[in-house]
Amino acid sequence: MSNNILSVNSLTKSFGGLEAVNVENFQINSNEITSLIGPNGAGKTTFFDLITRFQDADSGSIFFKNKNVSKTNSYMLARLGMVRTFQLTRVFDRMTVYENMQFAGSSIKNEGFLNSLFNKTSLRKDEGNLIEKIDDTLKMLNLYEMRNAYARELSGGQKKLLELGRSLMKDPEILLLDEPLAGVNPKLADNILEIITNLNAKGINILMVEHNINAVMKISDRVVVMAEGKIISDGKPDFVRSDKKVIEAYLGSSDE
Ligand SMILES: Nc1ncnc2c1ncn2[C@@H]1O[C@H](COP(=O)(O)OP(=O)(O)OP(=O)(O)O)[C@@H](O)[C@H]1O
Ligand SMILES: [Mg+2]
Repeated sequence: MSNNILSVNSLTKSFGGLEAVNVENFQINSNEITSLIGPNGAGKTTFFDLITRFQDADSGSIFFKNKNVSKTNSYMLARLGMVRTFQLTRVFDRMTVYENMQFAGSSIKNEGFLNSLFNKTSLRKDEGNLIEKIDDTLKMLNLYEMRNAYARELSGGQKKLLELGRSLMKDPEILLLDEPLAGVNPKLADNILEIITNLNAKGINILMVEHNINAVMKISDRVVVMAEGKIISDGKPDFVRSDKKVIEAYLGSSDE
């Protein structure tokens, strides 16, 4: 058994003549915050889509917790503990904040729900647990006061928080966050970074795509850089920051 939670081999995806993703080898070590950075169009979101099975790869394999999940559907993957957020948030605008959380929590707990139909005490207990979990999570995200508001009334940043909350309802072992800070004001961004760091401290593995380089360098154990579908650099923040290939492809020289 290896000590990585996620492992990817020769994963490729093309759109017509464009090779969006061509990743030879990629692993996530247990208990780290890994950031994936790179220019617009580098293939980061597509890579997320392939790993989480929201899109089929053209070739390659994906192992999660040493299990081959190359053909597993995204719903099952979430149940196994791989959960993602989207670059463009996917909260349900016509539901309240609370209902959004409830829906995310119930969709994963169907088995428990069926079993508990035959046992009313246990059903009440499950409901109680769910309510407590929603309340705790909303408090942690500073969304508790907004729990009865419709999701459409939330700011962009608050929607990001709600989407994070919805993922947490699924008890992730690895959380893939696609630009969790995009469009978020600096104060809320700091807040979200602190939440991500705390989640990692509680044992949730984090893989995060983010363009906010300062934030990435501050909280990541490891930074992986993609350009034109390929991984061009991989290492500790300080290593990647001074890697010539990265400066050329993405960061730009400091006197620019
Ligand atoms: N469904 C699709 N059909 C055709 N081309 C696509 C499709 N999805 C992505 N692409 C192309 O694949 C490349 C990678 O896109 P992707 O969204 O993965 O980049 P990204 O690194 O997430 O960029 P950004 O930082 O702007 O979000 C881009 O050139 C994009 O235009
Ligand atoms: Mg993207």
